[in-house]
Amino acid sequence: MVVSAGRFFTAACALAGSALALSPLEVDGKDFVNSKTKERFQIIGVDYQPGGTNAVNTKSDPLTDSDACMRDAALMQRLGINTIRIYNMQPTLNHDKCVSIFSEAGIYMILDVNSPLANGSLNRAEPWTTYDAAYFEQVFGIIEAFKNYENVLGFFAGNEVINQDSTWLAPAYVRAVVRDMKNYIAKNAPRTIPVGYSAADVSDILTDTAHYFECEMSNSTNSRIDFFGLNSYSWCGDASYTSSGYDVLTEDFANATVPVFFSEYGCNKVTPRTFTEVQALYGEEMTQAFSGGLVYEWTQETNDYGLVMINNTNTVTTLIDYDNLQKQFNELDIGRIMKSNGSQTSVKAETCSPSIITSGKLLNSWGLPATPSKVSDYIESGLPNAPTGSFVAVSGGVIPQKVYDYTGKEITGVEFKVLTGDEANTPSGNSSSSSTGTSSSSSSTGTSTHNAASLNGPSVARGGLGGLFMLLASLL
Ligand SMILES: *[C@@H]1O[C@H](CO)[C@@H](O)[C@H](O)[C@H]1NC(C)=O
Ligand SMILES: *[C@@H]1O[C@H](CO)[C@@H](O)[C@H](O)[C@H]1NC(C)=O
Ligand SMILES: *[C@@H]1O[C@H](CO)[C@@H](O)[C@H](O)[C@H]1NC(C)=O
Ligand SMILES: *[C@@H]1O[C@H](CO)[C@@H](O)[C@H](O)[C@H]1NC(C)=O
Ligand SMILES: *[C@@H]1O[C@H](CO)[C@@H](O)[C@H](O)[C@H]1NC(C)=O
Ligand SMILES: *[C@@H]1O[C@H](CO)[C@@H](O)[C@H](O)[C@H]1NC(C)=O
Repeated sequence: MVVSAGRFFTAACALAGSALALSPLEVDGKDFVNSKTKERFQIIGVDYQPGGTNAVNTKSDPLTDSDACMRDAALMQRLGINTIRIYNMQPTLNHDKCVSIFSEAGIYMILDVNSPLANGSLNRAEPWTTYDAAYFEQVFGIIEAFKNYENVLGFFAGNEVINQDSTWLAPAYVRAVVRDMKNYIAKNAPRTIPVGYSAADVSDILTDTAHYFECEMSNSTNSRIDFFGLNSYSWCGDASYTSSGYDVLTEDFANATVPVFFSEYGCNKVTPRTFTEVQALYGEEMTQAFSGGLVYEWTQETNDYGLVMINNTNTVTTLIDYDNLQKQFNELDIGRIMKSNGSQTSVKAETCSPSIITSGKLLNSWGLPATPSKVSDYIESGLPNAPTGSFVAVSGGVIPQKVYDYTGKEITGVEFKVLTGDEANTPSGNSSSSSTGTSSSSSSTGTSTHNAASLNGPSVARGGLGGLFMLLASLL
């Protein structure tokens, strides 16, 4: 690949400053695209929730321990991760170092704005009791804390709010939160940061839920989601494209008008996980409907979904699932996956109307609750006294922690690499010239609905080094 002097110069200048930013991603039709190069971006991700759902309090959250972040970023680079999702954060804490580390590692972030702490989420059974200024101090606080970091891919307004336990009107409240967040961002953030919703895989209302949020309302254009995440655990063990129900999902979302991706995947009913679904998810068929996905989850917790085990602050073990996933990622044709496609970006939103809700099991009207007046004041003038983060300089190097593989053998020389230029991290394709990483974690159990029975051949895409070099060439 040929690298121009100009490009090197830019990279060097940026490095001399502080942390070098990845170009922000933006939504174009049903794809995420790089705002500078306009190349398509697909999520090769992991859910990051070290310590589990309760690892957030007023003093710490998953992005406050920079030693842990650097350790995880290095291991994520090695794995091939380009995006992490983080569920529970505390807006008043300082996240500069961790976010800068992930940015330098070439890793984007999708952030849930809700938290399990008091006033941190909507009550799905009675949302009107929590749709108030106290709740928006959390929501807008997260936007304030993260709005200046270019590697923030987007915010989730809600995770699995709509399920069997939610009230009939819950979708209107979630759509109102999306509206308020997008109005806040338009008024108070330096760029348009996408806002989405992450759904449980409850098959009878899944497509209705997507339609409810992605349709266009002329009287409230900002209430439309920018992307849709689906928590899907239907591919277990050596399933196939059809036995897992991925074929049905692909058909269901082929006509989506926003980017759709798996916000959690990785069924653990059969262990060790071999992640054969990776080849289907990034294969020719599914990439017309989906923009990749995030594996649930980075660290081993009591629910047994981890890729790595944090033994103690100085020792980490990469589990067999980590190796299995890395092998699958290394097979991907990154060049094809990240190629822009005009028919994907030219899709137009449908209009909200009762006819687009077909199950009879989901709200089919769009009268949204009015924004509470104090929340309108926050939107107008910004949330008072909210800390805002910014990048700091970080440098690369071999991580100090001891790393063992699943056989107990020590892995030496695991390095956190500062990527120069505007590169997202990619799977290594087993090339010595490039390292990749992994990281993640989150909580939340998926409700799997499409059950697999037959063992027909999965749809398999092959790729490898050629694709990787094409991507690097296009970035440089
Ligand atoms: C939650 O919000 C209510 C209503 O504003 C407030 O009275 C209460 O102190 C808040 N709780 C916490 C823990 O912040
Ligand atoms: C998707 O759109 C095509 C063309 O408009 C249509 O034929 C097809 O039925 C749609 N599929 C779904 C699942 O709505
Ligand atoms: C572009 O996307 C469309 C719609 O998703 C798909 O039918 C087509 O095969 C894609 N073209 C290429 C070259 O990938
Ligand atoms: C770390 O934990 C893993 C998984 O429980 C275990 O197999 C391994 O022996 C532990 N390693 C150390 C160094 O304690
Ligand atoms: C906005 O439009 C939607 C659907 O088009 C409708 O249900 C809703 O009542 C309208 N809201 C207002 C305030 O007019
Ligand atoms: C690269 O390939 C070699 C030989 O096939 C294998 O031993 C090694 O584990 C691979 N490395 C990675 C990172 O996949």
